[in-house]
Amino acid sequence: MKTSFDELKTCELSAVCHTYGRYPLDIARGSGSRLYDMAGKEYIDLLSGIAVTSLGHCHPEITQVICEQAGKLVHVSNLFYQQEQVALAERILGTCHSDKVFFCNSGAEANEAAIKLARRYHRTVRGTKAYEVITLAGSFHGRTLATLTATGQQKVKDGFDPLPDGFVTVPWNDLAALEEAMGEMTAAVLLEVILGEGGVRPLPPEYLRGVQKLCQERGVLFMVDEVQTGLCRTGSFWAFQEYGLTPDVFTSAKALANGLPMGAMLATDEAARAFKPGSHATTFGGGALLSRVADKVIEIMERDGLAERAREMGEYAKELFRGVSAAVPGAITDVRGRGLIIGIELAKPGKEVWEHLLDKGFILNLTQDKVLRLLPPLTIERSDLDLFAQALSDVLKAS
Ligand SMILES: Cc1ncc(COP(=O)(O)O)c(C=O)c1O
Repeated sequence: MKTSFDELKTCELSAVCHTYGRYPLDIARGSGSRLYDMAGKEYIDLLSGIAVTSLGHCHPEITQVICEQAGKLVHVSNLFYQQEQVALAERILGTCHSDKVFFCNSGAEANEAAIKLARRYHRTVRGTKAYEVITLAGSFHGRTLATLTATGQQKVKDGFDPLPDGFVTVPWNDLAALEEAMGEMTAAVLLEVILGEGGVRPLPPEYLRGVQKLCQERGVLFMVDEVQTGLCRTGSFWAFQEYGLTPDVFTSAKALANGLPMGAMLATDEAARAFKPGSHATTFGGGALLSRVADKVIEIMERDGLAERAREMGEYAKELFRGVSAAVPGAITDVRGRGLIIGIELAKPGKEVWEHLLDKGFILNLTQDKVLRLLPPLTIERSDLDLFAQALSDVLKAS
């Protein structure tokens, strides 16, 4: 056990691969919307581990389920039928129009499954050679070779070439560019309804509906990445539901097991025809412990009306931040988002503002250099948002 932050930092540097630009902060424990460092300083968590702990940290019912299930059955492999997995499958399918689910361990893996399904669907069900997946500039879909290639940001690709073939990126909100890019090799379009990592950019409803229509007309699978936006965050259970969309395939992860690693790919019966026993698999996917926890997460989200709550709190927060914008003219150029995925775009690069806010005890994220990204727990209180708005106003006035 390291006894100081400096010692922890030094040992991390020597023992852990240098893949993360970490915040200057250690976290020792959490409860609800609060995090505490080793020295006992309290923080208001407006990030939820990047949209993961949507029910807050150490939610008592989740802790209880983890303990109970850990004493009953944790893992046996997908060679066996498991009550917990089937219960979760039925529960998650009850939230949407999809017919089948494949469980995995992360967002990247869920998208990888979707990409594999798209290729195999065209090869084995349609009898065509279509294999290309079209994605959007600014998107983020993960860090495996296929999903980083699908991602519309160069920074995640540097040094990893040659990249897999079969990915095309087009500008977002440009239906003509998408139409132009579609050809007989197009298997699927994969997009986020709100570009999360790309700076919290909600795509216009008419664009999204246009993409779905185009896909339907061309026999191309319409696939939505709900890894960040799903599970009540945007004000509906799945973000695509707000636009009346019915994707052939969509993916989930992050908040699914409130902090335990779990992902899912959901598909219509037609799209799921692509897979047969042996065509895709993962050792840990849908294990008893993870399934039981995810089942409880969804039960709580539905029982406590967290989609509705996210919508209300999101409106409240955006009003507050627009108030800050008016009080500090010129500092904020935009406040956007849906439900509790909110971007506050600053006029200047935001590293200093972000650092001051951290110093004052607020944990959030800075993306695309200027966008303060908030992904608070869906259980966040108004009073916490009030405190943050006041701190933001103070910091902006002083900078
Ligand atoms: C929209 C989206 N897709 C996919 C991913 C990748 O998920 P994971 O890190 O669980 O692989 C992320 C992660 O931030 C994401 O925001």
